[in-house]
Amino acid sequence: MKIRYLGHAAFEVVLDGKRILVDPWITGNPKSPVKVGDVSADIVIVTHDHGDHGFDDAVEIAKKGATFVSIFEIATKAGEKGAKDTVGMNIGGPAEIKGLKIALTQAFHSGTANPTGVVVIGKEGSFYHAGDTGLFGDMKLIGEIYHPKVAMLPIGSHFTMDPVEASYAVQFIRPEIAIPMHYGTFPILTGTPEKFQEEVRKRAPETKVIALKPDESIEV
Ligand code: NI
Ligand code: MN
Repeated sequence: MKIRYLGHAAFEVVLDGKRILVDPWITGNPKSPVKVGDVSADIVIVTHDHGDHGFDDAVEIAKKGATFVSIFEIATKAGEKGAKDTVGMNIGGPAEIKGLKIALTQAFHSGTANPTGVVVIGKEGSFYHAGDTGLFGDMKLIGEIYHPKVAMLPIGSHFTMDPVEASYAVQFIRPEIAIPMHYGTFPILTGTPEKFQEEVRKRAPETKVIALKPDESIEV
């Protein structure tokens, strides 16, 4: 599994030979290393419909052949905007999409449709992208049920968890690797990966924190 950070909450993951984009906010993202015209994918996932999570760019990517995956109402809207292949789901057990298992999870946030996180499971690995969320105790169940190898967690504070709360999330989920996201893009997102690292060391020292810079990749 190869994970590339595209800044903010946007990731490109190659898993079982499938290219997956999550929350591909590219147009207008000051941290994005790519342009939407240069990006393609097999699957594009949008966790919720706030502008910094890339609905519009995801629709453009879907028009080029990616399957658009989101909660039912957002997927329907993507279809109306021209995405050809959409999978509208809801929070619950996984669906099989292009050979991968994809499950939407709850997220404590807002939006015009219910916000979500997402778990993606393949043969080569698995990850949980929490979307935008506050801390919730049932993250423990996401860890117990899906054992995601990697967890991408928001740490910026103000709209989501801060580094302390996100370290509790790591303690609940127990991933091998935690990747911080949703910080530093704007001055208001004050959480830092250094503080997150320090807090994770206290509560979940067996988890490795890897803070990726935009355009940086890891192979896990
Ligand atoms: Ni949001
Ligand atoms: Mn956001």
